[in-house]
Amino acid sequence: MAQYTYEDCLQNSYRVNWKISDVVSGQRFDPSRRWLPARLSGADASRSLSPEEKTKLTHVEMGAYAHLFGYVEEFIAPKMVTLARDFEIDNREAFDALTNFAAEEVKHMHLFREVRGHVNAAVGFPLALIPGQKEVARAVLSKQTGAVLLLTAAIEWFTQLHYLTGMKDNEALDPFTRHIFKCHWLEESQHARMDHLETLRAFKGIADADRETAIDDLIELVGAVDGLLRQQTDLDVDNFERYLDRPLGASARQEVYERVLGAKRYTFIESGVTHPNFLQLFAAVTTPAQQERVQKALGGVLQPAA
Ligand SMILES: [Fe+2]
Ligand SMILES: [Fe+2]
Repeated sequence: MAQYTYEDCLQNSYRVNWKISDVVSGQRFDPSRRWLPARLSGADASRSLSPEEKTKLTHVEMGAYAHLFGYVEEFIAPKMVTLARDFEIDNREAFDALTNFAAEEVKHMHLFREVRGHVNAAVGFPLALIPGQKEVARAVLSKQTGAVLLLTAAIEWFTQLHYLTGMKDNEALDPFTRHIFKCHWLEESQHARMDHLETLRAFKGIADADRETAIDDLIELVGAVDGLLRQQTDLDVDNFERYLDRPLGASARQEVYERVLGAKRYTFIESGVTHPNFLQLFAAVTTPAQQERVQKALGGVLQPAA
């Protein structure tokens, strides 16, 4: 299994660190291009839409994608602050790396708020987005640390996959979107490694009963994520109708809802829990019976590590 260190994470972070103004200053979205790659969007599978409408659907979905990242960062930043306190004074490498991680996540939340402003300006109205970040963050933070960290690791590994496989070499995609997610990817790659280190630490020497609780909590958290995705998909379809300035009609609305939800489930759940680095970590901290329990709960999404 991969070996990471807090010190390497911190030094890499210092090498790639950016300011919000480096990301957004003087930049605009191009409405004639797609803002999300095919795999992260329901556009191509929505057969009732014209090519122009498919492009527009990706704009609405990208606004939601940026919002949902800011949403999860609401709990990741405080969790890292709490974990960092375990190292204060006696392990400055870990303390420094984790507090820097939290500070980067706070910056990302501010970045995604600014991005939402740019999205709203480009589509011409404020997108409807799910509320309740604080309540959700509070609920997530009440769960077992191991469960919160496994969820966080899945999220931060999928940010790597989305940029590298969907955006990095995708010249047809909107350049501003690629730039935002390149910057996010650069810093998230250290976060994913620190999630790995912290997850191993959280599960080390844990009592069997607590490990079971962590698995119960993880299943509950993924279920809660799915609930949020359903809510945002509903809003995406409303946003899309407003953007098109016409109702879709019942059958097209249903089709778009299902395709967008399918893409969101892949984006926010499947691409994280099937990421090879996540699977390695998951296999290291769970028993085969627990892996099977999670796999069953996720409907077979989680495949065994290669
Ligand atoms: Fe982030
Ligand atoms: Fe992160």
